[in-house]
Amino acid sequence: MLGVRKAVFPVAGIDTSFLPATKASPKEMLPVIDKPLIQYAVEEAIGAGITELIFVTGRGKRVIEDHFDKSYEVEQVLKARGKQDLVGLVQSIKPSHVECIYVRQAEPLGLGHAVLCAEKLIGDEPFAVVLADDLLDGTPPILAQMVHIFSHYDSSVLAVEEFESCESTSHGVIDGRHWDERVISVSRIVEKPSPELAPSRFGVAGRYVLMPSIFGHLRSLKPDLNGEIQLTSAIHLMRMEEQVLAYEFVGKRYDCGTKLGYVQATVDFALRHAELHETFDAWLRERLGGAQPAVWTTGEALNQPATPVTGLAH
Ligand code: UTP
Repeated sequence: MLGVRKAVFPVAGIDTSFLPATKASPKEMLPVIDKPLIQYAVEEAIGAGITELIFVTGRGKRVIEDHFDKSYEVEQVLKARGKQDLVGLVQSIKPSHVECIYVRQAEPLGLGHAVLCAEKLIGDEPFAVVLADDLLDGTPPILAQMVHIFSHYDSSVLAVEEFESCESTSHGVIDGRHWDERVISVSRIVEKPSPELAPSRFGVAGRYVLMPSIFGHLRSLKPDLNGEIQLTSAIHLMRMEEQVLAYEFVGKRYDCGTKLGYVQATVDFALRHAELHETFDAWLRERLGGAQPAVWTTGEALNQPATPVTGLAH
């Protein structure tokens, strides 16, 4: 069985949720503290053993290519100023064993269409799809957990989390039955159902490990009423021919495609950031009149070596 070496990052959406911030710069470049969302997503993929990063880009997304490219000018300036630590920081954005490839989606015709744009670059092997506006935080990285499940069951795997019933309109929602504590055999998947029509409370988060057979299903789809080809619809068709699993990941999801999720991620990450956590924690408590919710007591700084979860080697 082939391992998962390639990941597709669809970043060609029109980003209406963060206008005007995203009028001229992509949503995926919004920073949480000091790192853009796309870099968190890329680090998660590299942590899962991915070595080929395929970005599906569109108009106005060139800055993502620049971010993962070498920047001689910045490095020269930092070297001249003796800031060797920052030189190391910018050089580490793309480790040398990792390759970045860019393909254009000429028009934003939906997530499914964006994934289809990567078909030739993927070929006939399993691959990951990573939506950078879902910031997933966990140890091991969520995608590494999924690759482990994929290798074990040799089936496509969707990341899911249990949500409050009122949230279901913003997710794809699965139906199925539990096989294992965290593994669900999917019987159907519905794109953004209204809460009363949701078949369960398991919503799909923006991580997928897919068999290449998904491409045939994507190609067979006609655009929906919005003129888009949905990945969810192709997964639903795939489910009729082969097993598809959902995996309740160990970790936390921040929906950084919404303003609330983005602010929540910023606050939580600031409370764990090596440079910031003490001063920010003190400021936040003072700001809220001494209140001390449990989450603020988490002191573990980001950028510390991760402790593996038993049984999930990668
Ligand atoms: P969204 O549904 O979040 O759409 O796409 P969007 O246009 O980016 O964002 P909003 O809601 O208008 O702010 C989910 C993911 O799929 C990508 C987006 O870039 C995002 O990462 N996408 C979506 C594409 O690459 N192409 C598309 O045609 C649509």
